[in-house]
Amino acid sequence: MKKCKLLSLLNSDAPLDNVLINGWVRTRRDSGGFSFIEINDGSCLKNAQIIADKNLPNYDDIKKISTGSAVTVSGDLVESKGGGQKWEIRAKKIDIISIAPDSYPLQKKRHTDEYLRTIAHLRPRTNKYGAAFRIRSDMSFAIHKFYKDIGFKYIHTPIITGSDCEGAGEMFKVTVMDLDKTSKSDGKTDFSSDFFGKAAKLTVSGQLSAEMFALALGDVYTFGPTFRAENSNTRKHAAEFWMLEPEIAFGDINDNMELGEETIKYLAGYALAECSDDLELFAKYVDNNLYKNLELIASSDFVRLPYEEAVKILAESGKKFEYEVSFGKDLQSEHEHFLAEEHFNKPVIVYNYPKSIKPFYMRVNDDGRTVAAMDILVPGIGELIGGSQREERLDVLESRMDESGLSKKDYWWYLDSRRFGTVPHSGFGLGFERLLMLVTGIKNIRDVIPFPRTPGSIEF
Ligand code: 4AD
Ligand code: MG
Repeated sequence: MKKCKLLSLLNSDAPLDNVLINGWVRTRRDSGGFSFIEINDGSCLKNAQIIADKNLPNYDDIKKISTGSAVTVSGDLVESKGGGQKWEIRAKKIDIISIAPDSYPLQKKRHTDEYLRTIAHLRPRTNKYGAAFRIRSDMSFAIHKFYKDIGFKYIHTPIITGSDCEGAGEMFKVTVMDLDKTSKSDGKTDFSSDFFGKAAKLTVSGQLSAEMFALALGDVYTFGPTFRAENSNTRKHAAEFWMLEPEIAFGDINDNMELGEETIKYLAGYALAECSDDLELFAKYVDNNLYKNLELIASSDFVRLPYEEAVKILAESGKKFEYEVSFGKDLQSEHEHFLAEEHFNKPVIVYNYPKSIKPFYMRVNDDGRTVAAMDILVPGIGELIGGSQREERLDVLESRMDESGLSKKDYWWYLDSRRFGTVPHSGFGLGFERLLMLVTGIKNIRDVIPFPRTPGSIEF
């Protein structure tokens, strides 16, 4: 017997003798001396139909197999006479590994996304979530493939950090101290006796570390978990999410915009080409415009729009926004959606944002009031990418740090990179879950993360 995955069996060109497949039962029905068992092993969307003959020695037990049970089936892959599938498996032997009781929550009926979130440990066994998490796996691979093919090196940047990249005060603390017994000076906790001898946090971005490696290995990227303690309960924010962060050595803001656009186009095209079976489910049941949107993204030239022009378009749009727009105010979700969906109906790269609303590391433009920042806004998602050219001039960087109240002493190593062999460089962060929302049409970030972490929610 040859142990097989369902995916390879169902794609077989010819019948196969003596295959072995493990899986979980979706349904079973009995008719005319046969038991028809649908099983799935998670390798693909489609189920295998198993035909169990009443002459099998354990047929009485086979008739007790319930939805959710686990079985090992040995038999032959033969052409199916029934409609609906090309192949079926004629069982020679069925080993019952475990029988699931009737209380198994995933009986064959439709469940709401909200309910399935309460059983996140079981939801990958449904068609929809199985497909979503296979796509998540494929898209992770696609990221590595794209960057390897264009010569970027993959860097592992730390999860625990002593520095705050974005300066937005949204960091989770990492400590081994007994907070009830901690000494405080001037009302501030003294972390000198803590594990690292100073305050440690979970990283919000691997960028600062990636920059150091871009200035050594050339073009690099990091792709890993990042953490933000923003108390915003929206459909697009998670407290733990994955970010892809490429850093281009000897690259300016234009190279950065180009790479961001190429990355998104490649990934949309990859999903269409390589995830077609799973994608079909989403196009059918989740978002009828999915293929159209992905094809548009994969093929259209992204709009490039200076922030000041974006503000003008918004101000003259005649639309009533909840938040008013004017130079110096950050674009809100409603503005991003208006630009990408209603006004341009394609991805838009907004660049050259006001210096006052952006972090210290972004390169100051010659006008002195804007920085070489760029965000890529995508229809249905809003901000998918945020990035910038980095400030490579030591004196300008130091004065930006002073303005932002950052300690130059703490960032001595970051400043060193501008002392020794500094070069123009740039990069961005792409929110991986937002990419998955784009690719699947799933509307809530909680449904593309295996075990989502959001405010008030740490189950599983
Ligand atoms: O725009 P952000 O904050 O950029 C940075 O962190 C830069 N240091 C990246 C860099 O230049 N290397 O975040 C980048 C992207 C956003 O555009 C968004 O897609 C995603 O990360 N993101 C989130 N995704 C899910 N939940 C959250 N709370 C997110 N915050 C940001
Ligand atoms: Mg951003």
